[in-house]
Amino acid sequence: MRTQVGIVGAGPAGLVLSHLLAERGIDSVVVETRGRQEIEQTMRAGVLEQGTVELLTAMGVGERALTEGARHEGIELRFGGQGHRIDFAKLADRAVWLYPQHEVLKDLIAARLATGADIRFDVTDVSLRDVTSDEPVIAFTEADGTRVELRCDVIAGCDGSGGVSRHTIPDDQRTDYFRVYPFGWFGILAEAPRSSDELVYAHSERGFALISTRTPQVQRMYFQCDPRERAEDWSDDRIWAELNARVAGDGFTLAEGRIFDRGVIPMRSYVCEPMRHGRLFLAGDAAHTVPPTGAKGLNLAVADVVVLARALESFFATGSTDLLDAYGPTASRRVWRAQHFSWWMTSMLHTDPAGSAFDLKRQLGELELLTSTTAAATHLAEAYTGWPIEL
Ligand code: PHB
Repeated sequence: MRTQVGIVGAGPAGLVLSHLLAERGIDSVVVETRGRQEIEQTMRAGVLEQGTVELLTAMGVGERALTEGARHEGIELRFGGQGHRIDFAKLADRAVWLYPQHEVLKDLIAARLATGADIRFDVTDVSLRDVTSDEPVIAFTEADGTRVELRCDVIAGCDGSGGVSRHTIPDDQRTDYFRVYPFGWFGILAEAPRSSDELVYAHSERGFALISTRTPQVQRMYFQCDPRERAEDWSDDRIWAELNARVAGDGFTLAEGRIFDRGVIPMRSYVCEPMRHGRLFLAGDAAHTVPPTGAKGLNLAVADVVVLARALESFFATGSTDLLDAYGPTASRRVWRAQHFSWWMTSMLHTDPAGSAFDLKRQLGELELLTSTTAAATHLAEAYTGWPIEL
């Protein structure tokens, strides 16, 4: 089998890339180890930057995000028992949309399949070969057991942090920039009404908490915990007491309800450089991970493939590799900005188990600055709603 661009992974990066390539008349095949149902039903977060929504809309797949997603023109930062609103619309003239990632994936898969796109779900034993040659190969086994060798001009590695793509770059030719945080997030899904119209990011002496939402009936909440915490050790009462203690103050009340899902999420920052090895190009989580505090993961994946699609368009039209050569350096500028933003939000809002009273006071000083000066608040508003994509 042959295609122009072999795409490993049907997540946001792989599917958006396949779509952008099709718009440019470039052929691709997407290879995915998970099943379609699994991808479409794993409830994932989705804070979409305005630029991401605009891109999906231009691609003809933004309709449901706009109508069923919720436009948020701000967030609340809570500290010292008080809420402070960061007004994105006023400060940056931009907004974000809350629309879960798996819904974005449903829209993308439906749109791709409607035009006869080739997406192979449920494949196994994926490996990449000859990536430094002119004809790299994705080898895999189909769901029915058929072994396939997919010969490509270029491979896009969009298979996330656990995929094979990243590891295809030899260890001695790859630098892994890695940071593990000394805390995790205890996340719950609860059947409850919304406690707030906007997301609440709370700093407290007991640690960080985030009040988010999925639907009017289902709420998503997190609180900072020890990364080795076992979710099953926590009773519902203890979870609600902890969440309440962290958001308490100025009359804020948390709407409680049946907790039907719980888990502990590790927090890490990671970047792989270079993002390219021969004819293999990494995009999205295959190349980088951000802690969820800045809500940048999906948006960063989309920004990567916008740059990659343009580079591939130029390559197939002219044979020149100039833009392909520039892909890593160009994408990596945004990646490191987003790394900084995610690390900064994380460091400012979480309590460091090894920190001192000084650190706590310093964080409060920073939050006070952020919520009382236009310059500092504008920085947050611009970063959270997303910088323009640099090509
Ligand atoms: C979520 O809704 O799961 C969520 C929202 C905002 C974040 C992280 C996660 O920063």
